[in-house]
Amino acid sequence: MPTSSNDHLEYTSHDLAQTQALGQLLGALLRPGDVVCLSGDLGAGKTAFAQGIGRGWGARERVTSPTFTLVHEHRRDADPAVFYHVDCYRLDGAGDAWSIGLEDLWHDDGFAVIEWPERIQAALPAERLWIAFAFLGAQQRHLALQASGARYVALLAALGEQLGVTG
Ligand SMILES: Nc1ncnc2c1ncn2[C@@H]1O[C@H](COP(=O)(O)OP(=O)(O)O)[C@@H](O)[C@H]1O
Ligand SMILES: [Mg+2]
Repeated sequence: MPTSSNDHLEYTSHDLAQTQALGQLLGALLRPGDVVCLSGDLGAGKTAFAQGIGRGWGARERVTSPTFTLVHEHRRDADPAVFYHVDCYRLDGAGDAWSIGLEDLWHDDGFAVIEWPERIQAALPAERLWIAFAFLGAQQRHLALQASGARYVALLAALGEQLGVTG
């Protein structure tokens, strides 16, 4: 059972499908301007979660890992919004993020879902949803969702409502 408070939600996933399903619920709630950070070790489930986001948001194509390309740009039929899926694994500090203008991704029609955000910590906005993924077992993952800022507290509340938890 997930547990939550105003700005925090904890979730245990028992398999890949559950991680994707949680991502899917969140994806349906995301909108331009949003920043969602996915932190955790290799294989923890960040890309799996982003695949769910793409599904829930309505991305035209399947979401795959942007490790080698840095950013994947996804669109949907409903509106001009753009889902930027970023992987900062190959970036070396906030300076790299600034020099490529990463912050432009979450302006106008865009929102960003960022893997390896710890690589570019200082380039991230103070207000964001931070999701920390941790291994519990071969198929089990612990997800700790931390909201910073009113938009993300509301987002987390909406997600908690979908999961049937009350904050
Ligand atoms: N509960 C789970 N949630 C997410 N992935 C899981 C889970 N259990 C097993 N896995 C496996 O772990 C791997 C996660 O890979 P991926 O999402 O690419 O991780 P990351 O992007 O964090 O490096 C996949 O091979 C997936 O099948
Ligand atoms: Mg990944």
